[in-house]
Amino acid sequence: MCGIVGYIGTQAASGILLEGLRKLEYRGYDSAGIATVLEGEIHCVRAKGKLHNLEEKLAGEENPARIGIAHTRWATHGKPEEYNAHPHTDTANRIAVIQNGIIENYRDLREALKARGVAFRSDTDTEVIPHLIAEALAELRNQESSPTPYSPLPTPFLEAVRLVVNRLEGAFAIAVISADYPDELIVARQQAPVVIGFGQGEFYCASDTPAIVPYTRAVLTLDNGELARMTPLGVEVYSFEGQRLKKTPRTLNWNPVMVEKQGFKHFMLKEIYEQPGVVRSCLEAYIDTHWTAADHTHSPIRLNLPADLYADLQHIQIVACGTSWHAGLVGKYLLEQLAGIPTSVQYASEFRYAPSPLTPHTLTIGVTQSGETADTLAALAMEKQRRSGHSAEFQARLLGITNRPESSLGDLVPHIIDTHAGIEIGVAATKTFVAQLMAFYCLAIDLAHHRQVIAPTQLEQLLEGLQQLPAQIEVVLESQERYIEQLAHDFAETQDFIFLGRGINFPIALEGALKLKEISYIHAEGYPAGEMKHGPIALLDAKVPVVAIAMPGTVFEKVLSNAQEAKARDARLIGVTPMDEHEAAETFDTLIPVPHVDEILSPIVTVIPLQLLAYHIAARRGLDVDQPRNLAKSVTVE
Ligand code: F6R
Repeated sequence: MCGIVGYIGTQAASGILLEGLRKLEYRGYDSAGIATVLEGEIHCVRAKGKLHNLEEKLAGEENPARIGIAHTRWATHGKPEEYNAHPHTDTANRIAVIQNGIIENYRDLREALKARGVAFRSDTDTEVIPHLIAEALAELRNQESSPTPYSPLPTPFLEAVRLVVNRLEGAFAIAVISADYPDELIVARQQAPVVIGFGQGEFYCASDTPAIVPYTRAVLTLDNGELARMTPLGVEVYSFEGQRLKKTPRTLNWNPVMVEKQGFKHFMLKEIYEQPGVVRSCLEAYIDTHWTAADHTHSPIRLNLPADLYADLQHIQIVACGTSWHAGLVGKYLLEQLAGIPTSVQYASEFRYAPSPLTPHTLTIGVTQSGETADTLAALAMEKQRRSGHSAEFQARLLGITNRPESSLGDLVPHIIDTHAGIEIGVAATKTFVAQLMAFYCLAIDLAHHRQVIAPTQLEQLLEGLQQLPAQIEVVLESQERYIEQLAHDFAETQDFIFLGRGINFPIALEGALKLKEISYIHAEGYPAGEMKHGPIALLDAKVPVVAIAMPGTVFEKVLSNAQEAKARDARLIGVTPMDEHEAAETFDTLIPVPHVDEILSPIVTVIPLQLLAYHIAARRGLDVDQPRNLAKSVTVE
């Protein structure tokens, strides 16, 4: 989604702003723009398309301005054209604004402004903001000559922004500069993230930390309903009501290298390769490695969740979107099969308008790697609201699984499992998915232990199996990456793919299909293998490859016979299966061998070749793997 960057300090702003936008490219965008204050004027340049178009427009320009804001726009209201790109300015070109999110009441505000003679130059919801600030500022200036003080805040500019944000409805983050206040950059947050970075006599703001981390690791996160005035001397934070707030920056434990490709052609490939390390980090964080079956009176899992979260639990409901929803489906399998708790998984975007009836003793889990997905946050907010008035215990039964505990999700729910994947830049989720699965394994094991429905020896076996996963992923990466790269050549012209799986690997079939379609633009569908004969089999012919995940266990034979049905329709069969399974070797035309893994743990291994297949097909097609068209890393609008 859109990206915000701002700078005020002692250096030329435009280079820092452009570099910041580059770091936010991964969020997805279709136009970009930058505004600075130079010699008492707003200097605004915008361009449709990728950042290099903006850079071309700026090339050769000497711009020493020391204050500026910049934006990458992912179109919501109005086409991705230059005239809709941010920053937007007021009629007199004295105020420039960038915005992330949606101003829900913009139509009413726009009509009222038009009635007062304002001419609009874009189709966006954002443009109302600079016009409203200009009006508020004019009014405050009129009052300046009156005997009563006009504003409790240090400057009319800050007060004007404060008055305007109070009139805006929706989820938004804004950054504002004014030609008349060249030493002030104002940012405000209402349910869309804003971080402020502290340098030496210079300050940064951004919608996401990667834009700031090359300069400083001292950051302050604005909360909802807060605005900040940044000047070269410091940062002051206020509530939307105008109260000065005391907030202290924290130190990020990131380093700039985490947001570099480190020799990989794409972030996605780098992140696929980071997965053994991510699983190791999760194991270290979640599991007591000294635990043995003899210690069965206490749980080997350390998720730092209070015991009463588990007490008398009768139902779990999971809400999520996209890949996180697939992780939720694996979670359901684990929570039901290991812990014996009935679990439902819902698309957050559906749940928010048709929630299941509220039942007591239900734990609701929101899964979102970014912690900023608007639908997931709204579903959880609704669930929180539905529970108000019930017991404190019921109200506390909201859990988030996220890679960004400092996100809006962290503010919304009382309990969080941090997935320890490190920043993910590729739009297609890979390592964060595997980390979400690790969180579900540990939650299900912990619950199974709490409910005493798992034998200590089975628990011990599971833990041993989990410990082997990093090495097993490494085996797949080392032995299969080159082969899958070659295999990808065969599919450069393919138009449709089918992915089949059953049981715990059905969500992996869905995930394989989603990865392929989002980065290669090839139509792909995932099905539970047994469902194919109920319809999708009609699609099959020699031009439609079928990828089947066949791991020894409860549904192994079933998957193989479903695969045979596809073969009988001439489809090319590709099997993700252990090498030494002769029956599988005879069934499939092409094998992508994986190590033998306990069926229940196999998703962490079987997803790896599917990620590689999607990656190499897209890379082979010469596509923008890390920033696929129309997609955004965190979907902060409904
Ligand atoms: C797919 C992908 C998306 C996200 C979805 C939810 O590769 O990345 O489908 O999974 O937008 O995002 P989060 O997990 O941030 O809520």
